[in-house]
Amino acid sequence: MTRDGSAPAAADALSAAQTAYDAIRARGLKLNMQRGQPSDADFDLSNGLLSTLGETDLSMDGIDLRNYPGGIAGLPSARKMFADYLDVKAENVIVWNNASLELQGFVLTFALLHGVRGSKGPWVGGESKPKFIVTIPGYDRHFLLLQTLGFDLVTVDMQHDGPDVDAIERLAAEDANIKGVLFVPTYSNPGGETISAAKAQRLAALQAAAPDFTILADDAYRAHHLGTPPETVNFVTLCRDAGHPDRAFVFASTSKITLAGAGLGFVATSEDNIKWMSKYLNAQSIGPNKPEQARHVKFLGSYPGGIDGLMRDHAALIAPKFRAVGETLRAELGEGDDFATWANPQGGYFISLDTTAPVAARVVELADAAGVSLTPAGATYPDGKDPGNRNIRIAPTRPPVGEVYIAMSAVAACIRLATEEYRAGQRAQGNS
Ligand SMILES: Cc1ncc(COP(=O)(O)O)c(C=O)c1O
Repeated sequence: MTRDGSAPAAADALSAAQTAYDAIRARGLKLNMQRGQPSDADFDLSNGLLSTLGETDLSMDGIDLRNYPGGIAGLPSARKMFADYLDVKAENVIVWNNASLELQGFVLTFALLHGVRGSKGPWVGGESKPKFIVTIPGYDRHFLLLQTLGFDLVTVDMQHDGPDVDAIERLAAEDANIKGVLFVPTYSNPGGETISAAKAQRLAALQAAAPDFTILADDAYRAHHLGTPPETVNFVTLCRDAGHPDRAFVFASTSKITLAGAGLGFVATSEDNIKWMSKYLNAQSIGPNKPEQARHVKFLGSYPGGIDGLMRDHAALIAPKFRAVGETLRAELGEGDDFATWANPQGGYFISLDTTAPVAARVVELADAAGVSLTPAGATYPDGKDPGNRNIRIAPTRPPVGEVYIAMSAVAACIRLATEEYRAGQRAQGNS
């Protein structure tokens, strides 16, 4: 015992945390807080899609939906709808098939094999491997995609107003192997940050050592507001005005608007880049799935309020779940940073939590043993390794709101126990 008597109090805190955790574990929960997916209630909003096209809907825009001809860039009405969504002209959009990640993979692959406009040659095959900047914490599939294609990752922090642009400017200026940056501009995965207009402007104007430095903006959550919508940036226009007309590709999809992985992915970029992409897409496909595009145009066009109306209906389902996370963590762990801090995003699909002690992996392990499945610790960092062992991505959208309260109460108990265990270990080593 120390002279001030803190050891018994600390031991009490550990044993109280253990008792609380044991009680939760005894409940035999089976809850999942790691799936960044819409709930069934969200999907139900779009069930009408399934019956939108009838046997008489054989054409759209004068194009036969059942046959090959129709163009590589998508049905004109679909291009117009998603151009409006991304705040560009229809000529600046390709509407493709079911996944924006696939389009990101295509752009990167075409760039590796052929170079983008302004490249001296293919991105692959030089003396050094090409590099790409990603933000941390970030989206594991971005890391996977880039690394699978052979890029070395260079990380910069995601800050409250978007990527650390000071770092990007410095890195891109000094290394011509850095070919670009891939990040989420609106309600980022996992932190919910949205890039400021000032930072977007700096990225558009950035002086890079690579003449073909490219911005891949994965705008998966562009319309996924839970509060007042932020000012959305338009990278295609910003880059054009900054003298880099072909620098930006902006991706999005209907995966979290209508049906997940069963809708439309699309990309906005300069008209010259549309030609560049079309050339390579055209070699591997005669065109995208037109009936899918037609039914999205019909369904979203006739939904009350259009896409905005549908997104408001999603927000009504999702906002209470985000509130449940914040309320439960505040009630169980307090307002300060004794145990953890967490984001209060105004949209998107995730809440990023940082434990105060380096115990994220232990929290996930304890939660798993108590029947609450969390995103693996480290998943928000390249190679699954969070150097601080602090970040946990919480995904509250899929379970019903009642389950979110129960699961987060359990997670809070795990954070308390893992932290007290860590503190006890530090004390035992004389580090307290
Ligand atoms: C940032 C981000 N981009 C892309 C996706 C997947 O989009 P898609 O289904 O269009 O490939 C997700 C899904 O979680 C995501 O969080």
